[in-house]
Amino acid sequence: MLNIDHDINDLSLADQGRERIDWAFSEMPVLRAIQERFRQERPLAGARISGCLHITTETANLARTLTAGGAELVLCASNPLSTQDDVAAALVRHDQIPTFARCGEDGDTYYRHIGKALDHRPHLTMDDGADLVSELHKNRRELLDEMIGGSEETTTGVIRLRAMAADDALRFPVIAVNDAMTKHLFDNRYGTGQSTLDGIIRATNILLAGKTFTVAGYGWCGRGIAMRAKGHGAQVIVTEVAPLRALEAAMDGFRVMPMLQAAACSDFIITATGDKHVLDQAHFQVIKDGCVIANSGHFNVEINIPALEALAVSKHSPRTHVEAYSLKDGRQVRLLAEGRLVNLAAAEGHPAAVMDMSFANQALSMAYLWRHGAGLDNAVHPMPAEIDQQVAQMKLAAMGIGIDILTTEQQNYLTSWREGT
Ligand code: NAI
Repeated sequence: MLNIDHDINDLSLADQGRERIDWAFSEMPVLRAIQERFRQERPLAGARISGCLHITTETANLARTLTAGGAELVLCASNPLSTQDDVAAALVRHDQIPTFARCGEDGDTYYRHIGKALDHRPHLTMDDGADLVSELHKNRRELLDEMIGGSEETTTGVIRLRAMAADDALRFPVIAVNDAMTKHLFDNRYGTGQSTLDGIIRATNILLAGKTFTVAGYGWCGRGIAMRAKGHGAQVIVTEVAPLRALEAAMDGFRVMPMLQAAACSDFIITATGDKHVLDQAHFQVIKDGCVIANSGHFNVEINIPALEALAVSKHSPRTHVEAYSLKDGRQVRLLAEGRLVNLAAAEGHPAAVMDMSFANQALSMAYLWRHGAGLDNAVHPMPAEIDQQVAQMKLAAMGIGIDILTTEQQNYLTSWREGT
């Protein structure tokens, strides 16, 4: 009998999950090296960690790395639709990690699962969207005394945590893993770029070449999505609210215009802003017939789905992950994955090779916090620069890429103000 507390969909999927976790691990050389080191050095011995992350193959490899380092770990889902049920099963059956995550769980179950992760009385938290830290501060304040620190994986979570710190509400230090260069430059851009296109294609199987494809937000994720849509032969439009980002998009060769204009001519609209109601009632009123809309930002608020529901006279689901809304005048709007992260809900999330770096940062930040967290202020801290450098070096080495080294003459030149032309 399995003696691990859990709430998952189907334990019989455990062997399939283990195969896929191992497959992902073969693309994660940096995490492999860290796991090996953790096994020898046990830098997390005695640490209770609660993680609220997307339960994917890559997360499972992070989980194994942390437990190899001596941590006692409990996991819950950071999104109701992103759990890979076979992975959750493997974590419970093969890795004995208490896991609370069911793909398709409702809101109550989602928060009940966060509660279970907090029952673990963590010293350290790992968040993807800050729901764990937020629940801990709002409803489980008795746990604050034992907390040493936390880490945050995504842009939206970092924004929420900074708001907490500004309100003087944050009661332990958090490392913004998202802000590490070896995280957002690669994960948000290349990971979200590839997997968002993957999700859209799997869900619709519509040819992108020659279509008009709008990306809302030209941040790290938006840049990646726009770049990959262009690679598929789509004509890409970018919408923005920040002048610098809009200018950058224009000079990168994309058309830039307000969403009201873009909606009227787009075959696809993908939001990646971290903002609310980027696609709203006014846009649905002019949106092109047949337009596919999806979101890759963290929360499902970027598309105003209640407004779409209110305008629709009927809806049906022609394919898995597609909801086709018919409007009064006969136009159809096709919403993917209920407006939740399309790359995780309709595809498998980021490829392992980018999560390799993101989760190397997570693993090293957990060890850093366990060692130094007690001495840090209750604020949002950047990733220590030496960890970022170390992860980049390890990734380059794993890719077999060598780089030049500054000569002493160059080092002196680059740190001196005396030499001119
Ligand atoms: P970012 O801060 O680099 O970029 C967001 C951009 O959206 C900014 O340029 C901002 O000016 C723009 N924006 C804000 N409101 C807008 C509006 N109403 N219309 C048009 N543009 C608007 O953020 P990043 O890193 O690109 O992340 C974006 C979202 O994606 C966040 O919610 C983040 O948590 C999430 N994310 C999702 C991932 C996934 O797997 N799908 C992976 C990483 C991040």
